[in-house]
Amino acid sequence: MGERRYTEQEEALEVKSLRRIIAAYANYHDAAERDVKRYERSFEMLPPSHKELLFHLGLKYQRLRWCISMNASFIMNMLEAFEPPVDMSQYVDVDDHDCGEDMHGHCHADCAHSIERGDFSRNSISMSNSELHEPDDRPRKDGKTHELSRETDNMNEVVDMEGCAQPVGDKLGASQGIDKSCNGDKDVNASDNRQDTDCTAYSADENVTPREFMAPSLPLNVPPIDVDKVRCIIRNIVRDWAQEGQKERDECYKPILDELNRLFPNRSKQRPPSCLVPGAGLGRLALEISCLGFVSQGNEFSYYMMICSSYILNHTQEANEWTIYPWIHSNCNSLSDNDQLRPVSFPDIHPSSSEITEGFSMCAGDFVEVYNEESQETAWDAVVTCFFLDTAHNIVEYIEIISKVLKDDGVWINLGPLLYHFADSYGPDDDMSIELSLEDVKRVAYHYGFVMEVEKMVDTTYTANMKAMMQNRYRAAFWTMRKNASRSKAQKQ
Ligand SMILES: C[S@@+](CC[C@H](N)C(=O)[O-])C[C@H]1O[C@@H](n2cnc3c(N)ncnc32)[C@H](O)[C@@H]1O
Repeated sequence: MGERRYTEQEEALEVKSLRRIIAAYANYHDAAERDVKRYERSFEMLPPSHKELLFHLGLKYQRLRWCISMNASFIMNMLEAFEPPVDMSQYVDVDDHDCGEDMHGHCHADCAHSIERGDFSRNSISMSNSELHEPDDRPRKDGKTHELSRETDNMNEVVDMEGCAQPVGDKLGASQGIDKSCNGDKDVNASDNRQDTDCTAYSADENVTPREFMAPSLPLNVPPIDVDKVRCIIRNIVRDWAQEGQKERDECYKPILDELNRLFPNRSKQRPPSCLVPGAGLGRLALEISCLGFVSQGNEFSYYMMICSSYILNHTQEANEWTIYPWIHSNCNSLSDNDQLRPVSFPDIHPSSSEITEGFSMCAGDFVEVYNEESQETAWDAVVTCFFLDTAHNIVEYIEIISKVLKDDGVWINLGPLLYHFADSYGPDDDMSIELSLEDVKRVAYHYGFVMEVEKMVDTTYTANMKAMMQNRYRAAFWTMRKNASRSKAQKQ
């Protein structure tokens, strides 16, 4: 697929969208500090005898501040390293103050899978459950791919947001080619369909300008929902990149990896099978699949996710380089303050030093737009969807595209619930949401030529705090379906 030119309007929306997301990241510290101030105000309202009893809370609030500054420090380093795919100094006149972003943001994280969104701020509770997927999270839908490939003497290549693999910080020499093989149209309508949000509640610290690409200004208004998304990303870091997330990864990713291993027993290093991972989140599953001996491509449409995964994949110098405090944002359901304030180091591995198969890439863009292209037809040996299917407005369309991109006899491995992200969206835009039962999903898959080979239910969590007194569990559907060539052809006629 060739690279597509963008209209000025598309480019302007892209810049606006990115500026808002960067502002949300940059505002993390201030928003968290406001929470601590709120705790302190409540503490001050206590009668003296109660205050005396809870004297240690004063110290806890100071510790919280330190944790916040550690989290913010990671975030600012991440923003420092971010290379925006568009010229951020343009389109400053685009109305950044309308806060016209989609409020039915949807968070699939612990934040995302439904009930757990209650773990988050008051704002999350009123949202539908795919907070990370609102149109404005999205990188431009040109499906640019970002490769992380290996070279013998330099393991530190990067996956950057512009589709250019290049050495970390330009320090290490070997540069990689640009692969822009994925392409798609920018959905201007998606960005246009916005609801009003509460613009007035918070304003970003105007002094926080992580890099010149932020110039001339960040949006002043950072809606609380955007800051919640940053908190979701912090939890996703634990799921994908911390030792503490290993249990969750064993529950979710291991059955998929075992199945790929079983289904492709004679993988050749010369001609490795290919695997597409739509909705790749922070990229760990796609990386693990690459390490298993597949040409693996993660696809992701959230800039929140892409900025973070790109940083971890490309800029990590050593395992456990970073320490964050992921659980500080909720005082609820903690067994102890120490549990709530415990540090988490990441990444548990050094991505560039892992056994990556040549051709690993992250492809930015909307799955529907990027992979509905003719050039993607029968391009993949395997498609892996993990906690992804229910992000669809129209799950039938997802299944149709999965069938289309698979080679004949290709396999589709899925693990996840059916917590449709747009199911409880409400508001003037009335997002489309087709919500099928598992039985109907299987029937639709059969229609598109899939034959069920393995089927089971898997108990798991999603970005859960393992030490909390509340953990939402999913009975996720796991399956392997094979695309039956003759049946899918018959369907086409
Ligand atoms: C619940 S998360 C799962 C992430 C990852 N697979 C995991 O298991 O941790 C769903 C992911 O799909 C992404 N996503 C949602 N709709 C998408 C679309 N149409 N195209 C590409 N990515 C999408 C979201 O941004 C989010 O990162």
